[in-house]
This record gives sequence, structure tokens and C-alpha cells, in this order.
Amino acid sequence: METAELTQTKPASDEAKDFLPLNGTDYIELYVANALQSAHYFQTAFGFQPLAHAGLETGWRDRESYVVVQGKIRLVLTSPLHGGTDIGQHIDKHGDGVRVVALWVDDATKAYEETTQRGAIPFMAPTREVDADGFVVRSGIHTYGDTVHVFVERSQFGGIFLPGYKTWEPEHHPDDVGLNYVDHMVGNVGWNEMNTWVNFYANVMGFNQLVSFDDKDISTDYTALMSKVMSNGNGRIKFPINEPAEGKKKSQVEEYLDFYGGPGIQHIAVATDDIVKTVTELRNRSVAFLKVPDAYYDDLLDRVGHIDEEINALRSLGILVDRDDEGYLLQIFTKPVGPRPTLFFEIIQRKGAKSFGKGNFKALFEAIEHEQELRGTL
Ligand code: FE2
Repeated sequence: METAELTQTKPASDEAKDFLPLNGTDYIELYVANALQSAHYFQTAFGFQPLAHAGLETGWRDRESYVVVQGKIRLVLTSPLHGGTDIGQHIDKHGDGVRVVALWVDDATKAYEETTQRGAIPFMAPTREVDADGFVVRSGIHTYGDTVHVFVERSQFGGIFLPGYKTWEPEHHPDDVGLNYVDHMVGNVGWNEMNTWVNFYANVMGFNQLVSFDDKDISTDYTALMSKVMSNGNGRIKFPINEPAEGKKKSQVEEYLDFYGGPGIQHIAVATDDIVKTVTELRNRSVAFLKVPDAYYDDLLDRVGHIDEEINALRSLGILVDRDDEGYLLQIFTKPVGPRPTLFFEIIQRKGAKSFGKGNFKALFEAIEHEQELRGTL
């Protein structure tokens, strides 16, 4: 995956001074074949709560969206209502996947101007959207592949989600599983493209590079990748960027690119305050996770020192632990959440550590290779 060594934070240059202040992740929009059923899945399996809906009943003719929420995490699930749409093309090419990583800003017009002046390709000029609850301004730029960033300015809006949406109140309300916020979102890009996109986040969006990992850090006997972690000024937004590297067998990033049809979001890491409780609940709801060999736990405490959690609970759930200078973290990765081996989720609990689990890479990669082998794509 990706990781960070804490000694490598680069001081912000003048250019990297915060010309693009970001308050956090606003929403993540997935284009999916069946938004209704996807919303049901994210409620039932992942504990998201129904929030808002827009479609034919609210005046849209070409698409329908369901919005679900848990903690600060908002997912928008969007499907086309007829053939020949951009959304349908996106689904045909990529399968269900992330189209929009929306970022919450105070000034969407300025965010658009600052980034397009620095070379961002426009996706959506600043647009004021109004309803009885006020207005939002949204603008957007392209990033890697068919993925876009939308800037959302919502200080003058008091409605449920965005103008045009109505509250969605289905009967079915599974309990949440304790997910709080988006910790980071990882992009997979093509061969030799990592630095292009690192430079994009540095120069166009004013991000800093937290750390870099080469194929010696992130490899097993068989497969490899390279990764750099980009973060915005206040650290609320972290985007690791991966590219494949040469190994004896096919990199998991290359497998992703093959099945996704190009670059895109590989995983969404979501944070919890109690990973044992969260993962127990997710497993009870049939969310499938990667499994590392049992031997991982035999010498775990020698590697990470004292931890608060019961090691047997971690072992039975398959939760991984890593330590850095500031503390430790617990993490686990789901299997892909659709038919293609593309998008998956990471559940993470930070207890001081600000890194990304470097100590777990080898065990994780071997678990992923095992899955690739089963898929016949290694
Ligand atoms: Fe991650």
C-alpha cells in the first residue's frame, strides 16, 4: 500500500503556501450500475445511514443518486436512467467506481481559479446551485484517469445535502459500525506516472509530499509497487499515489489498471475509534477481508511493543498493527467490493501513529498475491 516515514515531511515552499485551503472531504461519488442496491449494500454491510435522494421524483431526468452517511463520511451512489450517458460509459469502462472526490472549501470560485491557473484541466466552472434551503457553489477539476475533484462551498446552505436533493427515509436502518471520517484515499496511476501526479498535487493543489516508497520498500519476492503520499496544508486530506513496479509477477497496481481500464481510486481508508468492535460488526455482516498468515501474530508484540488490544481478538479478526515514532495504528483491508479486483476499503484506527503501516506491507502483499493467484491474474 502506501506509508509515511515521519522524518521526511518537506517544509512548505512559498508556492505550497495554502492557496487552496481545504476543510475536509465533502463527499465521495461512485458511479454504479444500480444505485438503489448499492445504497442498500453500504447501509446493510457497512452501517451507513440513509441521508438524501434525487431522481425522477425530484425533477432529474437522466440519473438518480442516493446519499448515505456515517460520521463525517458521505457516499453518493449514482446511476444513469437511460442509455448513452457519460455515467453509463464510465460504468462500462471502469465498473462501479469512484468518479468524484469532493473537497469542502470556503470559496469554490477561488479554488477553481487557483488550480486552473496552475494548469488543472477544468471539469466544472464555478456553478451556483439554489433551492429553498439556500445555495452552494461547486466547481471542479480533472485529476488522474476519469477521476475528478469537485470543490464544494456550502456555508450558505442549510439543506440535507445539496440543492435538489430530498431527505431519504427508508424503513431499513441498520446500526452504524463506528466509522468516523475518511483518513486517506489512494490513487493507482500508470507506469512511470507517479511523479506526474505527485507534481500535479504539489504544483496545482499546493500539497506537500509526506514520504516516498520505492519498490524495495513495497515488494515481496514476486510483486512490487512504488508510492508517494501527498497531503494538503492542514493534513486533513491525504492522497497516496501508487504506480506499478517490475517484479517477477504482475504488480497488484497493474492488475487494478487492467480491470479498471486505467488510473483511479484504489482504496478508501476510513477511521474508527474501536477497530475491534467495527471489524467484528463488519464481519458479522459478511464484509470480506484480506487474511494474513496466522504466523503474523506469533511475534507481533516483539515487533510493535505494548498495545492496548487483546492480541487474540486481533488474530481472530485479522487486524494488523504497526508502530512509528509517535504511536501505533491498527488496520485491515477488505476484499474488493465489486466484481472487478479494483476498489476496496481500509479500516484504520490511529493511536498516535501518523504513518500508513509500512511494517505490514510484506504480509499484506503476500495476502494480495494469494488473492491474485485465485483470480488467475498473478
Ligand atoms: Fe491505505
